[in-house]
Amino acid sequence: MSLKSQIDLGRLPRHVAVIMDGNGRWAKQQGEERIFGHHNGVTSVRETAEAAAELGIQYLTLYAFSTENWNRPKDEVEALMELLVHTIHNETKTLNENNIRLEAIGDLSSLPKNCFNELQEAMQKTAANTRMKLVLALSYSSKWEIIQAVKKIASSVVAGSISIDDINDSTITAHLCTSGMPDPELMIRTSGERRISNFLLWQLSYAEFYFTPKLWPDFRKEDFYEAILNFQNRERRFGKISEQLTT
Ligand code: IPE
Ligand code: IPE
Ligand code: MG
Repeated sequence: MSLKSQIDLGRLPRHVAVIMDGNGRWAKQQGEERIFGHHNGVTSVRETAEAAAELGIQYLTLYAFSTENWNRPKDEVEALMELLVHTIHNETKTLNENNIRLEAIGDLSSLPKNCFNELQEAMQKTAANTRMKLVLALSYSSKWEIIQAVKKIASSVVAGSISIDDINDSTITAHLCTSGMPDPELMIRTSGERRISNFLLWQLSYAEFYFTPKLWPDFRKEDFYEAILNFQNRERRFGKISEQLTT
C-alpha cells in the first residue's frame, strides 16, 4: 500500500509550514559550494508544493529566507536572491497551470528591487488561483512580525480607535502577516535540527512538529506523505485529556 493511499483525506491539516533546512550541508557532502545545495532545493520546493496541492492542502508556507539569513556571507546572500528571482520567474507558469496562488510574508521591502518586483508580478499573475496558497516567508522573522503588530496596535490605541481592554488573541492574529490564514497544524523541519529559528512563533503555538534528518534537497513527495501520516497518528489534546476527546 503506497504512503499516499494511507492518508485520510478527511483529516488533512489545512495549513502546513516547512523550514527547508540543510542545503549547505547537502552541497558540502557532494564536495560542492553551498549555493549548489540551494539550487537543488528548488526541486524539493516543486515536489512539496505539488504533493500538498494534489492532496488538497489549502496553505503551504515555506521558510525561504530569514531576517537572520541577511548575516550570511555576502556572496551567498546575493546568490540566494538571484536564485529567488529566477525561480519565481520560471515557476509562475507552473503555478498557474496548477491553480496555485503565490503569496509572501516578511519584510518584503528589504528585498533587492528586482526580487521584490518579480515577486509582486508573480503574486499578481497568480492572484485568481484557488486550489492552494503557496506562501513564501522571505526576509521573515517572527519577532520582527510581532514587533510590527505591536506597533500597529499601539498606534490604534493612541488614535483611540481601540481600547487596551479590547486587545485579545484575535487582535494580535489580525495584525500579523498571516492575517486571514488558519494557523499551521503541522510544521516540518528537515536536516535534523530541532528548533524553530524565529519562524511563526505565535501561529505555531499548537502545531505538531515533525523533524526529519533528510536534507532539504533530498526531500520528495514521499517524505511529505510520511510527515502527513505521522501527523494523522498524533493525538491533539489542546490542553484536555484523552478521555475528553473520545467521548
Ligand atoms: C536552508 O539551508 C536554506 C536557507 C536557510 C536559505 P541552509 O543554507 O541553512 O543549509 P545548512 O543548514 O547550512 O546545511
Ligand atoms: C532557518 O534555517 C531559515 C530558513 C530555512 C530559511 P537556518 O539554517 O537559517 O537556521 P539556523 O540558523 O540554523 O537556526
Ligand atoms: Mg540551515
